[in-house]
Amino acid sequence: MRSDVIPHLAVDTIVHTRVPPVVREHLEASERERLRAEIKSLLIANNAVLVAHYYTDPELQTLADESGGYVSDSLDMARFGHEHPASTLVVAGVRFMGETAKILNPEKRVLMPDLKADCSLDLGCPADAFNAFCDAHPDRTVVVYANTSAAVKARADWMVTSGIALDVVRHLHAQGEKIIWAPDRYLGDYIRTETGADMLLWNGACIVHEEFKGVELKILREQHPEARVLVHPESPPSVIEQADYVGSTTGLINEVKSHPAREFIVATDKGIFHKMQLAAPGKHLIPAPTAGRSATCKSCAECPWMAMNGLRSLREVLASGANEILVPEDIAVRARRPIKRLLDFAAAQKRVVMSNNDA
Ligand code: 13P
Ligand code: SF4
Repeated sequence: MRSDVIPHLAVDTIVHTRVPPVVREHLEASERERLRAEIKSLLIANNAVLVAHYYTDPELQTLADESGGYVSDSLDMARFGHEHPASTLVVAGVRFMGETAKILNPEKRVLMPDLKADCSLDLGCPADAFNAFCDAHPDRTVVVYANTSAAVKARADWMVTSGIALDVVRHLHAQGEKIIWAPDRYLGDYIRTETGADMLLWNGACIVHEEFKGVELKILREQHPEARVLVHPESPPSVIEQADYVGSTTGLINEVKSHPAREFIVATDKGIFHKMQLAAPGKHLIPAPTAGRSATCKSCAECPWMAMNGLRSLREVLASGANEILVPEDIAVRARRPIKRLLDFAAAQKRVVMSNNDA
């Protein structure tokens, strides 16, 4: 990786001191059934829809599917919530996803099972430091990843997600624009390498994907020579360079479904295996190897903040209306522009793809 990422040494240390342990909800079958039934009734009573990320507990994903909600990546969650007529959106994921939903839908009530569901990329990019960085480079177009606070988005020209970042940066590069990219240094480096764009990178990282190890992956590939390697682009370069396919969570699932290979090594959060296995029941999925800072785990690959979403807390917020996401109006107005720009760009891309298919 080139060495012009922002020297921001303190960020890694601060973020790592704030990472909670992974605590998953364990319920007796009878309690689980009771909660599932109550949540379904409460969703109807509240004119609410449940939108969940692929990394959340399979229990929540199933409930979203069964109740007319949606399970997807961060881009599609935003799009679905925006287009759905429900007056309350219940977002099972991490806080930036709830904030994005609220910014796009100020008239709707947005609830989350746990407001402490953070993200290391968001934590590692405080708005004041980011504003100072942008001030120092006023000639650059500011592109931020969805995994940021509303205040950081408010400073951006574009918001992107992993599913569309390459297309947006290619588009900007073709127009001769120089870019500030934040916060994920690995994703930024991957996009810069792929597009050749002039990008200054913020120095953030995802604490889950950062743990995938290139050396260990090489050994695993030797043990499974037929396996196709699928990698989320928040992973380090030593992992990305061994990938047969790099893409967003939706992209990875589609690849398992559509590619004729029978075996796949997957470098992303383990939560995705639920939908992957449903999409391709006969295929063999192998978690890519990880090693934490203390090297005490292999294949940890679980986001501790996504794990905070559980059935008990979901029932509780629907019953009480607690955990509402609120974004100050002045920030929401400014943050809406880069998000809408992305959704308009994505809709235009889709139109181009569809008309090419029609031809
Ligand atoms: P996606 O945009 O691919 O859903 O990724 C979001 C995320 O937080 C990955 O760690
Ligand atoms: Fe953030 Fe990483 Fe968790 Fe995704 S997996 S929400 S990037 S900490």
